[in-house]
Amino acid sequence: MPPVKIGVLISGHGSNLQALIDQITTGKINGQITVVISDRKDAYGLIRAETHQLNAVFVDRKSCSTETEFNRKILAVLTNNEVQLIVLAGYLRILSGEVVHAYHNRIINIHPALIPSFCGQGYYGKKVHQAVLDYGVKLTGATVHFVDEGTDTGPIISQRAVAVERDDTVESLQNKVLNLEHQLLPEAVMLYCAGKLKIDGRKVWRIEDEKSVN
Ligand code: GRF
Repeated sequence: MPPVKIGVLISGHGSNLQALIDQITTGKINGQITVVISDRKDAYGLIRAETHQLNAVFVDRKSCSTETEFNRKILAVLTNNEVQLIVLAGYLRILSGEVVHAYHNRIINIHPALIPSFCGQGYYGKKVHQAVLDYGVKLTGATVHFVDEGTDTGPIISQRAVAVERDDTVESLQNKVLNLEHQLLPEAVMLYCAGKLKIDGRKVWRIEDEKSVN
């Protein structure tokens, strides 16, 4: 099967992008990253992309008069690079309905909490882990899901949990959850690229065994 053409959208450090690059390099993922797009010129993830000779593109929101125009620019870059699967790897903007419709059930996002907890508007980065600590939950973790028109509301592909310890801080939680993300996201992309994910309404199953993806 030819490799799935992947477009990765980032806004920052790009450690999840790096995890994808590494797993593609080892051959575990039948995919090819044809473009990395960032809405932040200073995103370290763009450096990571260039280091691996990947097509790295900065799309400047300030050069667009509206969010719609900005998303159309993103869509044009994706189309020009023949992207078949979009992966949001720390991308901090909300995609327009136009992009979501164009890539229905072909956009995967990673969120640093166990959706439907600590997600949605305003829950990103360290704010998520601070909310986890403030609430006093005993478990947190990472979620990989398909993107729909909402914020962190699409069908869940997989989740992995980790205990919240008494001495945990925002930073220690962020590190523990990132470690999970770096496993979970490449696994989900590998299954997608192998044609092993079946979407049934809000439910996502791994085709070969019809069990939960985890
Ligand atoms: C990760 O915690 C991810 O869950 C969230 O943004 C962060 C991105 O980290 N969406 P990185 O840029 O992949 O290192």
